[in-house]
Amino acid sequence: MDMDKQVVLITGAGSGIGRALALAYAEQGARTVLVDRNKDKLDETAQLIQSAGQDHPQPLYRELDLSDASAIEAFFVWLREQTDRLDALINNAGLGAWKSVYDLSVEEWDYVINTNLRASFLCARESAKLMRESGGGSIVNIASTRAIMSEPNSEAYAASKGGILSLTHALAATLGPDGIRVNAISPGWIETGDYGQLRPEDHQQHLAGRVGKPEDIARACFYFTDPANDFVTGTNLVIDGGMTRKMIYIE
Ligand code: NAI
Repeated sequence: MDMDKQVVLITGAGSGIGRALALAYAEQGARTVLVDRNKDKLDETAQLIQSAGQDHPQPLYRELDLSDASAIEAFFVWLREQTDRLDALINNAGLGAWKSVYDLSVEEWDYVINTNLRASFLCARESAKLMRESGGGSIVNIASTRAIMSEPNSEAYAASKGGILSLTHALAATLGPDGIRVNAISPGWIETGDYGQLRPEDHQQHLAGRVGKPEDIARACFYFTDPANDFVTGTNLVIDGGMTRKMIYIE
């Protein structure tokens, strides 16, 4: 895939999967645009790209709290001043509120929904305006296997991720005529900490025999954002080592 001159916007690029995506796209020669609410972590990601070599295009990056709708609009005004094209958006930023449904406040619910779901919509809407002017593009929404199955005390997160799957096919239907494809990825357990500290049983419980890595998600993003794959839209790719296909009857 030739990513030279491609401009790729990645949200939540300060850590975890988002940082790995930023490094992976820069490695392939793409110009990355990075946002995160955590300025220090975002600066670190940008520095990692800057110090990786001359062949890595310098990133554009800016602190942004995605739960704030007007801040998102202001960011896109700024982005238009920096670039007249956008090839891909990866709506990656996300978080949960892991507490009892009896205690979850309206404010906590809203923060999760606004960050995970509303921001995905707003970033897609604003990105699509840029993409249609420059001949189309690709939007990838990072959902979760928790969109389709749950542990207790995950209501806001699960609802936001379920919403992202629905948003994905709705946007795919609307934006297809503008040459914009929209797909979702539902990761399972992707270890963003110390992979070496995982226990054998962590790996063995997966049909694939291992826990996931951020690179597993990066390769799927490459596939979705490659213009050659222009027949692929409206889909949801589950990347979970088979966990959601596993029977769990106790013997
Ligand atoms: P992470 O917590 O390491 O990184 C998320 C990034 O998003 C952080 O840098 C954080 O500062 C940023 N962020 C959070 N709220 C924000 C806001 N309001 N405005 C701007 N930035 C904000 O998480 P991780 O594991 O890298 O997850 C990335 C995405 O993948 C999330 O959407 C998550 O739900 C999804 N996912 C991750 C899985 C995993 O096992 N790691 C499994 C399934 C889905």
